[in-house]
Amino acid sequence: MERSYWERIAPSYNEEIFDVLQNDKSGKIITAIEQVASKEKTVTDLGCAIGKWIPLLATAFKQVVATDISAKNLEIAAERCKNYTNVEYHRMDMSADNLTVIPCDVAVCINAILTDNLKKRINFFQSLNICLHDGGYLILVVPSLESKLYTNIIAHRWNVDDDHKEKIKSVEKAYALAKNIKQGVTDIDNVPTKHYLEEELQLLLTLEGFEVERIEKINYNWKTEFNNPPKWLAEPFPWDWMVVARKEKSQK
Ligand SMILES: C[S@@+](CC[C@H](N)C(=O)[O-])C[C@H]1O[C@@H](n2cnc3c(N)ncnc32)[C@H](O)[C@@H]1O
Repeated sequence: MERSYWERIAPSYNEEIFDVLQNDKSGKIITAIEQVASKEKTVTDLGCAIGKWIPLLATAFKQVVATDISAKNLEIAAERCKNYTNVEYHRMDMSADNLTVIPCDVAVCINAILTDNLKKRINFFQSLNICLHDGGYLILVVPSLESKLYTNIIAHRWNVDDDHKEKIKSVEKAYALAKNIKQGVTDIDNVPTKHYLEEELQLLLTLEGFEVERIEKINYNWKTEFNNPPKWLAEPFPWDWMVVARKEKSQK
């Protein structure tokens, strides 16, 4: 998932990309944001795309720093949110080796650390830390590997949607799929996408200087996974992980 991928998707973003805000019917992410929000505080939206979360953030915080790797996404976000005057837009690659950021009191990062490239993920996680003031809150949402495997197991066992209609077209693809899954990378719409274990998130964030306050499931409807979910298929519903973590104070 290079910058070019996100630039290409930008014009059709709404049709192509899963909408977390619309699908989180529990409102848990909004609640988590509201719990740490204040008109005295600044917030950064890391990987803001076309700005779906900006109206909420601009209303709840003093200032919003909206960032994304894609210039086109930022253009669309700025146009959509032009009525919010307390938002600034910055093109920024959170996976870059050297990054200059505007540290904020709160950082929101919703389904943006998806790359299958390990080095880029390592850099992205390191960058989360410098985007925050000491004691600042991070609200991070990422795809769940447990949920993805659970979905695959159900699809295969009960042949749902013809077992997800998965066709592995070549030996090379089969090899890549097998190699990727060991690292939690599995395709979404044929795009290799990083999925995370709960324990992995705890470890990654602790090692980057965060204290994890809670990790919760953000549940979605089964229709987000299957065209025809079996009628008997109920809880547990598919989910992303939401982490609420606090940047530890640096030792001086
Ligand atoms: C699935 S979209 C999520 C958008 C938004 N957070 C939401 O929930 O509606 C992922 C976004 O992350 C951005 N992104 C991916 N890698 C990035 C990086 N290294 N630095 C900054 N933004 C990145 C993409 O351009 C894309 O807009």
